[in-house]
Amino acid sequence: MDIPTKTLKSSLSLPVYGLGTFMMGGRMEPDTSDDDRYIAAIKSAIDHGVTHIDTAEVYGGGHTEKLVGEAIAGYDRSKLFITTKLKSSTTGGYNAVIEACEASLERLGVDHVEMYLLHAYPKTGEPVEEIMRAMDALMDHGLVKNIGVCNMTVDRFEHLQNLSNYNLVTNQVHYSVQMREPEARGLTEHAVQNDYFITAWGSLEKGLLEQGDTLKELAKKYNKTPYQVALNWVIAQPNVITIPKTTSVEHLEENLGALGWELEPEDLEKLNKDFPNQKTASDRVPLDYAADFPA
Ligand SMILES: NC(=O)c1ccc[n+]([C@@H]2O[C@H](COP(=O)([O-])OP(=O)(O)OC[C@H]3O[C@@H](n4cnc5c(N)ncnc54)[C@H](OP(=O)(O)O)[C@@H]3O)[C@@H](O)[C@H]2O)c1
Repeated sequence: MDIPTKTLKSSLSLPVYGLGTFMMGGRMEPDTSDDDRYIAAIKSAIDHGVTHIDTAEVYGGGHTEKLVGEAIAGYDRSKLFITTKLKSSTTGGYNAVIEACEASLERLGVDHVEMYLLHAYPKTGEPVEEIMRAMDALMDHGLVKNIGVCNMTVDRFEHLQNLSNYNLVTNQVHYSVQMREPEARGLTEHAVQNDYFITAWGSLEKGLLEQGDTLKELAKKYNKTPYQVALNWVIAQPNVITIPKTTSVEHLEENLGALGWELEPEDLEKLNKDFPNQKTASDRVPLDYAADFPA
């Protein structure tokens, strides 16, 4: 299927649904025991029309990028949008960022990626200005076509944006019908006002999203599954796209059934207000407000 897209005022378009790859090929260390299954899962997603693939240098200690590289090798590169991420801790400064990106490209078997993200805010003592200067240099030299960040508060996003000559085109954060931190902390509003995407990770809460009565009732009304309603709600939010991870064709096809239709405004509102046990701080990567910039 053709995955619907969203377009920024700056003209960058992204599919509303992409494929996450965390845990394919190991958590933070390589696990090569199930490579064929993960490569097949990525290929299957592409065969179903998924063009945006999200990975990171830390996933599987680099092995996940290799699996993505193997999976995409036979496809038309110009139709794919590959996102990878610079690991959180980059003490080596400018050169370390350039080398990290080049190593990612090598593992992926590509000469550029469409998006390169800072995976986390640099730790105290890390040269944040140099890191952003290196991100700009990667853009200048065409190794990356867009840059963005992950898990940033509004203040940190603005601080990093001020250090770059390029627009940061996304803040990738934990966001689901249950996890409302991006709304509670003004990230979603900031994205709309400043013309960038919120890329929602964890939009299915690792496949453990509480289905609850509201989701079940709406699923019945629209003849969809509760997870299809949950994903539809996420991508109904302005400037929001999502990247669920799945290795199962059944789950993939279920998730793609979340696209191409719309919840009525009153039902979006019902989920906004009535979805039970809403949380306003991520239980996985809570945003670091105490250490916000400026300190
Ligand atoms: N920037 C960051 O800091 C950050 C943090 C976390 C994640 N991410 C990115 O975001 C992606 C998505 O996040 P995530 O993987 O943590 O969480 P997620 O997408 O919410 O959940 C993935 C889990 O849900 C299961 N699943 C998928 N579709 C399902 C369905 N229809 N029914 C039941 N279970 C289903 C998958 O299992 P099966 O494989 O069995 O389908 C998998 O275990 C990651 O893979 C990664 O690329 C980024």
